Amino acid sequence: MAEPNVLVERNGRVGVVLMNRPKQLNALSAELMESVVSSLGELDADPGIRAIVLGGSERAFAAGADIAELSAATPVTLYENRRLERWESIRAVRTPIVAAVSGFCLGGGCELAMLCDLIVASEDAKFGQPEINLGVLPGAGGTQRLTRAVGKAIAMDMILTGRMLSAREALAHGLVARVVAREAWLDEAKRAAAEIAEKGPVAVRLAKEAIDQAFETPLAAGVELERRSFFLARASDDAEEGLKAFLEKRKPDFTGR
Ligand code: CAA
Repeated sequence: MAEPNVLVERNGRVGVVLMNRPKQLNALSAELMESVVSSLGELDADPGIRAIVLGGSERAFAAGADIAELSAATPVTLYENRRLERWESIRAVRTPIVAAVSGFCLGGGCELAMLCDLIVASEDAKFGQPEINLGVLPGAGGTQRLTRAVGKAIAMDMILTGRMLSAREALAHGLVARVVAREAWLDEAKRAAAEIAEKGPVAVRLAKEAIDQAFETPLAAGVELERRSFFLARASDDAEEGLKAFLEKRKPDFTGR
């Protein structure tokens, strides 16, 4: 039987999805992306799961869209089959997703990591948008999300020259949240996800949504959305429990209600 192209496990409240096309450095074929999108959707629908880790292998998170597929595609098939649009459905996942990045994180791989909520990287991770070397440009959000993450100067440098950023540079420029020793890339991402999973899921999801809105709305509208989300979170059982637990000097037990 063929190896599955993603490996999914549940560690308590944390769901882990590992891309598994090692020979192609996790190049994101249509089939692999379909598995990633559907695994994330399944974990998101599971009320027992409060945070997700998405990773690859030690050698590569993902080396980009599958170049063989891209070369066989025509503009019409790319337009008709809406595969790149399907990636955007990851944005609808309400459960926070931590990208665990080791090795190459390039092209569509970098775009996929940026679709996640935060990136934990091994110190030897390499981030890049090398599409320009192929005569194309990022097609799954790279020009937009990278620019918002690192600013115009670095985005222009990476996208126009194909220069890769080291993990330390990516940290300095705000693309990644944590950089850890090579051997800790997956454990640290799981640890970050487990920290999130301990919090009240209602507040976590509302906070994720509000932060995402920071890139979509004017400041006043974003602040208004935040205020309403705060009121909504305050109405949850989790807020009753969290506030009470603090006053009673004990750990809260959040139920996600
Ligand atoms: N698609 C398909 N296959 C890929 C791939 C990709 N994106 N990246 C690597 N592979 C394959 C290689 O063809 C090779 O296969 P074979 O063993 O059958 O020859 C295997 O993975 C190992 O790769 P290398 O031998 O090249 O390994 P390396 O260590 O010498 O180099 C690398 C690693 C620098 C990542 C190099 O493989 C590389 O440059 N890959 C392409 C990166 C890239 O251009 N990504 C952008 C893709 S386009 C895109 O993503 C569009 C979009 O925005 C949606």
